[in-house]
Amino acid sequence: MASNEKRETFSSGLAVFFATLGSAVGLGNIWKFPYLTGQNGGGAFLLVYFLCIVFVGLPVMMSEFYIGRTARKNAIGAFKAIMPGTLWKHVGTMGVLATYLIMFFYSCVAGWVYFYLFKALTGELSGITMEGAKAQFGSVIMGPWSPILWQCIVMAVVSGILIMGVKQGIEKITKTLMPLLFVLILACDLRALTLPGAWEGVRFLFHVDFSQLSGAAVLTALGLAFFKLSLGLGCMITYSSYFTEDNNMLGTAAKVAFSDTLVSLLAGLAIFPAVFAFGMEPGAGPGLLFMTLPLVFAQMPLGNLLLIAFFFLASIAATTAMLSLVEVPVAYCIEERGMSRTGAAVFNGILIAGVGVLATLSVDPSSLLGQMTFMGRGFFDWFDYLSSNILLPIGGLLTAIFVGYLMPREQVVAELTNQGRLAMAGMVGMLYSILRYVTPVLLIVVFLASVGLVKL
Ligand code: PHE
Repeated sequence: MASNEKRETFSSGLAVFFATLGSAVGLGNIWKFPYLTGQNGGGAFLLVYFLCIVFVGLPVMMSEFYIGRTARKNAIGAFKAIMPGTLWKHVGTMGVLATYLIMFFYSCVAGWVYFYLFKALTGELSGITMEGAKAQFGSVIMGPWSPILWQCIVMAVVSGILIMGVKQGIEKITKTLMPLLFVLILACDLRALTLPGAWEGVRFLFHVDFSQLSGAAVLTALGLAFFKLSLGLGCMITYSSYFTEDNNMLGTAAKVAFSDTLVSLLAGLAIFPAVFAFGMEPGAGPGLLFMTLPLVFAQMPLGNLLLIAFFFLASIAATTAMLSLVEVPVAYCIEERGMSRTGAAVFNGILIAGVGVLATLSVDPSSLLGQMTFMGRGFFDWFDYLSSNILLPIGGLLTAIFVGYLMPREQVVAELTNQGRLAMAGMVGMLYSILRYVTPVLLIVVFLASVGLVKL
């Protein structure tokens, strides 16, 4: 079994920032955020989402960092180390389960993204029309073999990088690719915002109209905040177990939350102007990204180059996020089950691709799996709903209670100020109070409201 002495860490503050941002930025920004904002009416949803980031996301991220760096263990092992012999380790168990559920559908969507990149590279999407874009999406997701093949390719890439380890794999890849992602997304924004009629899309994104907001939408915004910042499933516990001793963790949390939200807004600014400029439906659902983006660039010189850039950046985002997701069970298998890193990465890759096929096949309504729905949802939607809207908020709530009520304030302040070396005890104390009194209350109210027990 890998002993704690041999445990790797990231090599610098910058590496910590890019790896953590690499986890946060993913399909959540480029695919989920735009389509959920579109389905839930735009600005008002956005505002609730911001509040969730500040009052729930930041304090929970701080808690996970505290747990991970204190224990220097995987998601389950960390709870075991801090509270031995208690049921708390099952918060970690739930996290590992949620990680698998997310990966089952995430690897499917990542497969679509890789496939689109391939199509852009071969020029198949250039000059596409609106009808063509819709038909293209239909044929990509219904394969049925090609989406499964791409899902397997995705898992092979992710497992391959994880085999290289924390420094050589995760750190190297995220440090190189995250800055590139920013440049590429800005280029796409420039194009989308100069489309005739782009302004309508900007207005949709920022115009706050509360009559558009339902109780269920509030839960969705909360779930999205967890999903976006990779919280509530032990992912940030796992990553922070590799942080350096001198990292300013509160600073890292704030910078990551800010930059991640910025990327989501930039993605929204690339997609909504196009939606309105081409008269498409903002509430089109999961296909929104795939149907609008090819159109944005279809009719312009060098458009195909930008399309390649966009799907390349989406592939980067998806891949770096999946590294952090799959690292959760990988670290667990290495530290608690005595597997080698290679064995753990290969085993989890195969497991995820294997079960993930259920999600991939379930999006075709005419297929056998597509017709297997329970309470109106197929496999893909259940994996997504159970993880984002149920398991992550519950995991986040338990994590907030664990740190806010079971860990003494002085201990949390000491760890987050690096034993007093950072002059930010006041700031940490304030977040600790939010964690105790605000975060759990908000989580419980939103949860009760979503199941109809409380009226918002
Ligand atoms: N934050 C990632 C995204 O937005 C997804 C993710 C969720 C990654 C949970 C790790 C853990 O796409």
